[in-house]
Amino acid sequence: TKDLDKQARDILKQNDRGGYTIPTKGLYPYQWNWDSAFAALGFAQFDIERAWQELETLFTAQWDDGMVPHIVFHQSDPGYFPGPDIWGGTGPVPSSGITQPPIAATMAHLIYQLDPQKGEPHMRALYPKLRAWHDWFMQWRLDQGAVYITHPWEAGRDNTPEWDAPMERIDPANVGEYERRDTQHVDGSMRPTKFDYDRYIWLVQMGKRLNWNQPQLRVENPFQVADPTMTFTLLRAQRDLLALGEALGLNINGLADDILRLESGAQSLWNPELQSFDARDVRTGEWANCVSNASFLCWYAGIDSPEQSAQLERVLSQVKYGVPSHDPASPKFDGRRYWRGPTWAIMNQLIGLGLEEMNHPLAEKLRATTRDLIAAHGFAEYFDPTDGSPAGGKAFTWTAAVWLSWAN
Ligand code: DGY
Repeated sequence: TKDLDKQARDILKQNDRGGYTIPTKGLYPYQWNWDSAFAALGFAQFDIERAWQELETLFTAQWDDGMVPHIVFHQSDPGYFPGPDIWGGTGPVPSSGITQPPIAATMAHLIYQLDPQKGEPHMRALYPKLRAWHDWFMQWRLDQGAVYITHPWEAGRDNTPEWDAPMERIDPANVGEYERRDTQHVDGSMRPTKFDYDRYIWLVQMGKRLNWNQPQLRVENPFQVADPTMTFTLLRAQRDLLALGEALGLNINGLADDILRLESGAQSLWNPELQSFDARDVRTGEWANCVSNASFLCWYAGIDSPEQSAQLERVLSQVKYGVPSHDPASPKFDGRRYWRGPTWAIMNQLIGLGLEEMNHPLAEKLRATTRDLIAAHGFAEYFDPTDGSPAGGKAFTWTAAVWLSWAN
């Protein structure tokens, strides 16, 4: 594993663009929000100051309303679409207009714990910014206490079958001509379909037209889905801020109430017929009826569930490696198409952290199969969970970071 440790560190260094890290060359040439949070934890294993810098650079792009964008376009790159002009982000640095799962506070907490003395000044400076971002979610994005997304890219799980029904309702007839770049970097069979892409771009055009105004988007946007990724990660992140705030004597006003609200929001995502946490369409109230890898983030958020454990045991026994992003028993399962089946090291890590903290009997199995997967198949963006074959981008920052900080 010494050799793999070195390879992983080299990937982080190669993808370092000076203060921030790109996910992978070509396919994703900018700073992505949750990718950077993983990168920071990876750097923290060998260069703690660089770890803090990663998060600090991300927060230079925070909008006035507190939102932290999902892509930050520090310098332009014609190899990516949709770029800064298509988005028309209104923040201090060119950016997209949507956010991503709020894991930065959790990663900051973990990095702080590795070296509290070096971490303290960084943590103190970052804390109010993290609170402002979380407050933005609490103000604009709650439905029955669960966090909803306004674009499939927000949950980070772009083309999961959970969004199929709400995406169906969008008519992208007027989206116009555009040229996809992603399929010039990796094979189209591993990427979202044109059906999905037209709607991704249509939603971006609508957001830009409304100047990313949250009250207006709330009224006009047909795509609003309460999602386990966002709800569980925010709940967890609020717990981390509360712990940090108490330890450092910082302002914790309102956090305990936020946590209670999000806990009841998490319960609002329990689908009793499916016997699993599930996504819920805010517009129609309909369930997605999907057991996804995000369903298994409950432990990460501090919530135990014997029924969800039974589901985990089942899906783990149906594949060889890790947690599949979509239920292998579903007819929509596709082992190579992005979030419709592949296993993702990052999700395995978040799920695994939760399982470990709760002394769950499946914790070690998940870590071991993720370790074997990366050791045998490299640092790919994601993997077919049935045979481990690598898919998507190569030399991927977050897979390298997962190796260094958890799987190795
Ligand atoms: C993409 O371009 O595919 C990204 O997932 C958007 O964040």
